[in-house]
Amino acid sequence: MKLDFSNIGVPTEKLFGSEKELAKALKGFETKKQNFLSALDDPIDALSKFAQDKREDYDTVVVLGIGGSALGARLLADYFDNEKLLVLDTLDPYAVERVLKSVNMVRTLWVVISKSGGTLETTTLRDLLAPGIPAKNWVIVSEKDSSLWKWAEEKKCPAFEMPQNIGGRFSILTSVGLLPAAIAGLPVDKLIKGAQKMREQVLCKDVARNPAWQLSCAINTLKREKIVNWAYCSALKTFGAWWTQLFAESLGKKGKGITPIAAMGPTDQHSLLQLITEGDDNFFNIFIKDNSIERSPLGKIMNIELRATTQSLAELGRPNCTLEIPNRNAHTLGELIVLWEMTVAFLGELRDVNVFDQPGVERGKILTQEFLKEIE
Ligand code: PA5
Repeated sequence: MKLDFSNIGVPTEKLFGSEKELAKALKGFETKKQNFLSALDDPIDALSKFAQDKREDYDTVVVLGIGGSALGARLLADYFDNEKLLVLDTLDPYAVERVLKSVNMVRTLWVVISKSGGTLETTTLRDLLAPGIPAKNWVIVSEKDSSLWKWAEEKKCPAFEMPQNIGGRFSILTSVGLLPAAIAGLPVDKLIKGAQKMREQVLCKDVARNPAWQLSCAINTLKREKIVNWAYCSALKTFGAWWTQLFAESLGKKGKGITPIAAMGPTDQHSLLQLITEGDDNFFNIFIKDNSIERSPLGKIMNIELRATTQSLAELGRPNCTLEIPNRNAHTLGELIVLWEMTVAFLGELRDVNVFDQPGVERGKILTQEFLKEIE
């Protein structure tokens, strides 16, 4: 994985700050006591065994969850093009019906995922479906002693604990993402290996060898209010949704924030690119280039388009950088996930924002509960 900052317009020595600043950011991160990096060492034997035991019995795995409790599974299913793993993260009756009609209820394992255990969308779907589905078809992931945990105890269905001090949007590489992925037969061990490899780099105290620090400094220094993640890699389409949530919910606070926009290359060259080229000069563009596609003539053309787009933006002084990935396997995805998680964590340190909470959505939840009384 390689980052190319040559189209940024600022010399890298001015961009990346000092070793002292990096040490301060690492210290700040450490004091937040977030465990999404240390959890990469948690044993996954129980989860893998459960997955192996269940795999043959079920044709479909449906996750009931939302936000950080759903986007990880969605991203994994789409990256690996896995049709066994589905996610229900909406109350839209048409969407729910479509999923229910598409599965064999008896041969479906329902995975209810909620850190708090009480999220409206998730519990509503669970309560709607539970009466018709036996306990053996359920498994949950939640914090111990949540109402969902108690529900699983009463129903006598298996439960996996979410590790402490990991927010939803940082939880993809815990039981939240790994359990459904493993049941669907995805290579979770390789994913973790890639993540562990990137962990070494994002915790590195050397500015020149820390890609998350470099990315966060580039984003912060250029002070653009919008960030565009251009994936020239169709497997990363849903990665864009996961990445959008990570940026929006983590950094959008105190009247500040960076608006994330997930774009696909070359498709959005025919949609967003005009705005980014000649609209307000407020975009920081990151291009993800998959080098493995160059084995195909089509891929060669696609990467030439990427090159032309980045150069045309640079000529206009519109900053962009390119992240080259060698392939689209599990190891690379693990690396990408940790790279972005830690880039956001560093941005929080640089901007004095707590990226690990989401107070802005609470009022809406309270009002929803009040309004729900009207239909009870
Ligand atoms: O990132 C987050 O913390 C949120 O998006 C949550 O994941 C989302 O609100 C769902 O919460 P819960 O897992 O408690 O059901």
